[in-house]
Amino acid sequence: MEKFIVKGPCKIKGEISISGSKNAALPILASTILFEKEVIIKNLPRVKDIDTMINLLKSLGSEIKFNKDRKIVKITKKKKQNFFASYSLVRTMRAGILVLGALVSKHQKSITSLPGGCLIGARPVNYHLNALKKLGMKYDIKKGYIHAYTKEKLKGTKIRFSKISVGATENTIIAACLANGITLLRNCAIEPEIIDLINFLKSGGAKIKFIGKRTLKIEGIKSLKSTSYSVMSDRIETGTFCVAACLTGGNLKINNFDPKIIKTELSLLKKVGAKIKVAKKQIHISGPKKIKNLNNLVTKEYPNFPTDLQAQFMVLLCKAKGKSSITESIFENRFMHVAELRRLGAEIIIKKNKAFISGDTNFQAAELMSSDLRASVALVLAAIVARGSSTINRIYHLDRGYENIENKLRKVGVNIRRVN
Ligand code: UD1
Repeated sequence: MEKFIVKGPCKIKGEISISGSKNAALPILASTILFEKEVIIKNLPRVKDIDTMINLLKSLGSEIKFNKDRKIVKITKKKKQNFFASYSLVRTMRAGILVLGALVSKHQKSITSLPGGCLIGARPVNYHLNALKKLGMKYDIKKGYIHAYTKEKLKGTKIRFSKISVGATENTIIAACLANGITLLRNCAIEPEIIDLINFLKSGGAKIKFIGKRTLKIEGIKSLKSTSYSVMSDRIETGTFCVAACLTGGNLKINNFDPKIIKTELSLLKKVGAKIKVAKKQIHISGPKKIKNLNNLVTKEYPNFPTDLQAQFMVLLCKAKGKSSITESIFENRFMHVAELRRLGAEIIIKKNKAFISGDTNFQAAELMSSDLRASVALVLAAIVARGSSTINRIYHLDRGYENIENKLRKVGVNIRRVN
């Protein structure tokens, strides 16, 4: 199994370019099932989850042609459509559930594996199923699979999500595009990746618009037309590199990302002392000599502070002067990085969904174990400022969502290598 060896402490300095967004690309790829004609998707990140979604689409009967660097894909329908999304594919990547809305909307049937549990929380799909049911989908759950069908096309209706969910909003938007009539979706997630999915579908002729802050009106159409679309850049990768620069007292120019998308994160980084200059598609960040603490940072739905940056900010606050606290309000078990950070010397106490961080930590290198995607990158960040040589095991978690992370980090001054 591959691992990273990181020799710290290192200072981050230089320039990097942000890759395409994994969390935007996944629903966009799933929604290509709705199209009869060729679709071209550009700016794909080269990460494992994208390979898994592509394999899922192939297994469902899509023909896939990549360009040389695998960042542009041409997707066309083969004659034979399949309807079976297997456990082996959906298990490793929960976004596999997003093919359900597309299959049922376009082909009136699907057998899709339930994603199963996940280390960061139970992550059920009840909101997805409830919303699709309201559109007319019938389903049974047998042996871990959702057997879904409709006798006729899905039918537009009014749906209010009882809780904001990124995936359920995406699945329902995708399904409603080709439904008969008008769908009104209330209490939607409005993450930038959802806006990107909407823009993609609109480029194919879908009729979707916001009629309130969290309310969408979708007018069903008969079919979507061929389109070509470039996926947005990754805001979590951007946030991670901003934290890295701030954490190491470094100086980093981050290219290819619209700073307006991460206003909340940038204002938090300013609060802890970072100096930030923004241009149209660039962020220039330099870290402070001494990081300031933050009290009661709470993860919440966009446009608030994202749960996907909670672990990275925790590392930053470990190095801050004085005590900080973070409340995790999205997932029930997203503090797995804490035990590993303690092994590097962090003093963190967990009470329910709140972490109390002592600050002023002098990280010392250790052997570490990755648990999930964002927790893993937090360990890399901590290893970068730790004294000595740290080993981070199970980095396949990182490969699921960060493109070429060791090369990007090496280019800006981090002593990191991948070994077998
Ligand atoms: C997406 C992101 C993930 C991010 C999360 C929250 C992708 C591929 N993944 O995940 O990186 O951390 O948003 O911003 O885009 N829930 C239910 N029932 C449901 C659906 C969700 O109880 O049917 C719960 C979840 O367990 C969780 C909360 O609602 O506690 C939010 O989950 P959701 O927004 O759906 O996250 P994902 O779409 O899975």
